[in-house]
Amino acid sequence: MLSKGITDNLRNRIKKNSMQVRDKEFKVFIPSKEISERVKILGGAISADYENLNPLFIAVLNGSFMFAADLIRQITTPCEISFMKFSSYEATSNTGILKELIGLKEKIAGRHVIILEDIVDTGNTIAHIWELLQKEAAASLSVVTLLFKPDALEKEVAIRYIGFSIPKTFVVGYGLDYDGMGRNLKDLYQLIE
Ligand code: IMP
Repeated sequence: MLSKGITDNLRNRIKKNSMQVRDKEFKVFIPSKEISERVKILGGAISADYENLNPLFIAVLNGSFMFAADLIRQITTPCEISFMKFSSYEATSNTGILKELIGLKEKIAGRHVIILEDIVDTGNTIAHIWELLQKEAAASLSVVTLLFKPDALEKEVAIRYIGFSIPKTFVVGYGLDYDGMGRNLKDLYQLIE
């Protein structure tokens, strides 16, 4: 039966209000409507602050791809976007290992650069990127993150735009993954401990 086949093959199973991603259960944390309302506000603020400055967004892959796609469409001033990729996370715990995988081709010198992150947890990733980009003589450097976990922060980082400050909890959805899964979910989900 077609419907049974689809059900069997779905990795993300909806059980009542919870969602299973691999071996863990998650519950809805921030619904997609709330995310898009917040992204619209962030886009408006950035557009006003960077009007006619041709900002260069540098989105940190993989987690930020959905946020980047939505945020960039809310930017009403001319801008550019590029991508960087690091590896730092294994399953639900931070390994602390940060390896540059895809470097940046664009010239940074003299540009107004906005680093675009999905989530700032310990702050190690963003501190590392900040350090790298600071050497490139940007006209200005700032950070926009969809999510920020203030209680998990280990490094001092200046974040100019924050979507949501959240507790020290593990989240998936809207681009964020658990062991590679869950990025496709429209809502943000929180791990049920
Ligand atoms: P940080 O270096 O500890 O700030 O971690 C930043 C990166 O860790 C993010 O770009 C995410 O890829 C990943 N990360 C941190 N917290 C979570 C989470 O709750 N869910 C999924 N990924 C996370």
